[in-house]
Amino acid sequence: MHPTKKFRPLILAIAMALPLVSSPNLLADESSIFSQMATAQPVWAKHGMVASQETLASRTGIEILKQGGNAVDAAVAVAFSLAVTLPRAGNIGGGGFMLVHIAKENKTIAIDYREMAPSKANKDIFLDENGDAVEKLSREHGLAVGVPGTVMGMSLALEKYGTMTLKQVTAPAIEMAQEGISVTPDLAQSLAGLKRRMSQWPTTAAIFYKADGSDYQVDDVLKQPELAHSLSLIAQKGTKGFYEGETATKIVKAVQDAGGIMTLDDLKQYKVVERKPVRGEYRGYEVVSMPPPSSGGVHIIEMLNVLQQFPIDKLGQNTAQTIHLMTETMKRAYADRSEYLGDPDFYNVPVKALTSKDYAQKIASQISMDKITPSTDIKPGKLAPYESDQTTHFSVVDKWGNAVSNTYTLNFSYGSGLVAKGTGILLNNEMDDFSAKAGVPNGYGLVGGDANAVEGNKRPLSSMSPTIVMKDGKPFLVTGSPGGSRIITTTLQIIMNVIDHGLNIAEASNAARIHHQWLPDELRVESSLNRDTISLLEAKGHKVKVQSAMGSTQSIMVNEQGIFGSSDPRHAGSEAIGY
Ligand code: GLY
Repeated sequence: MHPTKKFRPLILAIAMALPLVSSPNLLADESSIFSQMATAQPVWAKHGMVASQETLASRTGIEILKQGGNAVDAAVAVAFSLAVTLPRAGNIGGGGFMLVHIAKENKTIAIDYREMAPSKANKDIFLDENGDAVEKLSREHGLAVGVPGTVMGMSLALEKYGTMTLKQVTAPAIEMAQEGISVTPDLAQSLAGLKRRMSQWPTTAAIFYKADGSDYQVDDVLKQPELAHSLSLIAQKGTKGFYEGETATKIVKAVQDAGGIMTLDDLKQYKVVERKPVRGEYRGYEVVSMPPPSSGGVHIIEMLNVLQQFPIDKLGQNTAQTIHLMTETMKRAYADRSEYLGDPDFYNVPVKALTSKDYAQKIASQISMDKITPSTDIKPGKLAPYESDQTTHFSVVDKWGNAVSNTYTLNFSYGSGLVAKGTGILLNNEMDDFSAKAGVPNGYGLVGGDANAVEGNKRPLSSMSPTIVMKDGKPFLVTGSPGGSRIITTTLQIIMNVIDHGLNIAEASNAARIHHQWLPDELRVESSLNRDTISLLEAKGHKVKVQSAMGSTQSIMVNEQGIFGSSDPRHAGSEAIGY
């Protein structure tokens, strides 16, 4: 039985006992599944919730919670499981960011397990003799591979904030890799779609395509015994089972054979960094998010600070006026992002200035209610580098009030596409997230530099934005998304949909999304945004482009009525499961 099914009678009973709600503008903390106005229903649970982009991984997390594990135990189990069941983004050969809230100590920690550039990397490694960037080198080459952080990140999280052993939390992943998983339509389609990049590496083709070179079909069984072996080494030896010995030797050989410069010492020296999250205040809620080298938290807070200057709730959800203000805010935040964000261990990122209320007021005062400011007037500059949208996010809440918000990635779908021979481990192409070009100062008085240039041991800039919104000091909303540069605006919209517009978490996840990133100067919208709104936006000067759906949010909302989960309906196979 589906874990939430047995609660349905209880949900109905509670719903019938509650007064009918007639206002479309519920306060955010009233927005649950019980409103008569709701157009979508989240999953409800009493004890705990896991929302991830793949059902088997969500189930793994719930089983760990049921066994008495806490949110961190469940999160680490989900991360290892996704490496098997969602190989295009789940990983042990990549990296990411985890936000952990420990209820007992009322503290939130930002765990940075982003990949690091190999020590020999420098700003010229991706340039040809004319100084032009060669995409192939940073995407499908040994040079593309950053030193992976996931195994170190998960081990640290488990050791410091979990209660279970690596052996316990890797067991489900090892079993699924060894025994095989049933190929879903989503997996079949993505493997077929990425065949060119994947099959250029024989080690990869041998795992993800059949012996005769044909594609896996829906319901075929995909076994990954070499990955099971690599996971078993981690279970037995901890981080040494990945960063030293057999696995490390195989990873370094694969990277160097593919033209890369990673060394055994780079793997041995990899470090996870525990950072202070960035914090902001939005209409009485505290927003806690990922600090640099992610740009996500800084710009979510910067944008919320600006939008707080406007009566967004009165202007309405997804009206032309609200979207106009959001777009003008996004442009300015992304202009800043192109300039000031990078690895804080290498570059002094002006976090305080960018997230200050004064700065937000200055930006707000430059926004016209009626017409756009073209991006060229905001700041002359360079195009933001391409960012892959094949990241994945999961959120976990346990019965003690602990919460985990985690986003991790291989960068592109299946990363570089290269599997290190004998390991089953897909290696990232995160080096493509560095920028090769120098920056220029922007129009707001902040002086920028070459914050995201390639340097040895540096972490590339990211958009990943695992976020926890707190109410009265407790996690209220745990959320995040994949989507490359769209991650930041997608997460922003989940927060606004709940806080400004009183939507429950399922409605907030389903609502049409928009995105502007300063350059290119276009307002990207999803196809479900209505034509009239688009016309009104065009009348204000926006260049509106209807493009593919954005994000795959995995969110959990907690209030006195229970725990509410919602997996974004935009991707097949996602599931929020409660118990
Ligand atoms: N590679 C996508 C990101 O870090 O945001």
